[in-house]
Amino acid sequence: MNDTSGRAAKPLIRALGGVASETPPVWLMRQAGRYLPEYRKIRAEAGTFLDLCYDPEKAAEVTLQPVRRYAMDAAILFSDILVVPDAMGQNVAFREGEGPVLEPVRDAAGVGRLNPDGVAERLTPVYATVERVAAALPDTVALIGFAGAPWTVATYMVEGGSSKDFREVKGLAYRDDGRDDGAFAVLIDKLVAATTAHLLAQIEAGAEVVQLFDTWAGVLPEAEFERWCIAPAKAIVSELRAHAPGVPVIGFPRGAAFNTERYIAETGIDAVGLDTAVPLEVGRRLQAHCAVQGNLDPILLVEGGKPMETAARTILSALSGGPFIFNLGHGVLPQTPPEHVARLLQVIRGE
Ligand code: CP3
Repeated sequence: MNDTSGRAAKPLIRALGGVASETPPVWLMRQAGRYLPEYRKIRAEAGTFLDLCYDPEKAAEVTLQPVRRYAMDAAILFSDILVVPDAMGQNVAFREGEGPVLEPVRDAAGVGRLNPDGVAERLTPVYATVERVAAALPDTVALIGFAGAPWTVATYMVEGGSSKDFREVKGLAYRDDGRDDGAFAVLIDKLVAATTAHLLAQIEAGAEVVQLFDTWAGVLPEAEFERWCIAPAKAIVSELRAHAPGVPVIGFPRGAAFNTERYIAETGIDAVGLDTAVPLEVGRRLQAHCAVQGNLDPILLVEGGKPMETAARTILSALSGGPFIFNLGHGVLPQTPPEHVARLLQVIRGE
């Protein structure tokens, strides 16, 4: 047989190809992280968070930790969505207890200083991590690469970090007032180019699937959602189709609610990540268009016990009849007891 037979044998790839399974593949967003003692150990040895992201040996090790501990069906590259602005020349730091801190980009001059061209060159340690992980994974486990979607990455770049109201980034976007040469439009164009290059380089290094995280897709009105979430994702997906045909793309337009169906139809993604608030009946309907992934509340994974098990079984019975990947509705929280994750995997696998 040819070399796609090995790929097709991976449960995650099969689900992304539209195949239903009684026992769906499972992985968890932020499956590598502070809830694992073995992560905290490597993290403490590494220096800063970005030092860890740019250390291929250590980053590969933390990527593999949850796969080993729980026999996940996929590994997701250990990195961060903010390595892209870092590689474009913006100052990015992660402060303990504070999260990301960036020197904000708020006008045309700031946008003009960003360089998307050298991104794949500056991020070679990330692709070295992908290569190491690809070489170490068992035959049945898929390797997922990822990037932040342009809108979500732009929120951090313009706000200078996390935000509650998105006042600055929305202001910059609204001031473009439909012009294609406005500062925000140029920023998004640069991010489309940088993100495409970054994803293609991960694929080249061995990523078999990619996920686009649009964590803040849910804060925009309809027209801006179309312009700043759908259009950039569509452009990225079409470049990936042209240069890496056959590599499935998972979109995660978190909070997109009533805009989700349109996002799927217009971007052409292979699977959509459902956040915690998406009703399972809606998820089931979406399976007519693409595979779905989700959507257990991460807080239930912190709680564990019967509430977690009941909710997981409800999700399984609603979505296992179609193409489905079990996941959370958002990332694993640092307070999560590791044994709850082990129990969740048993429930999913009927053990
Ligand atoms: O899923 C995985 O296991 C792969 C690794 C991964 C990380 N970040 C590691 C990380 C992935 C896929 C991300 C994506 C990411 N990063 C997103 C999109 C997904 C989401 O969660 O909404 C966003 C918005 C970011 C930006 C970011 N990175 C923030 C806001 C923070 C601070 C908050 C926090 O959780 O600490 C980070 C830091 C970060 N990224 C950590 C990890 C493991 C914690 C840093 C540490 O270990 O000290």
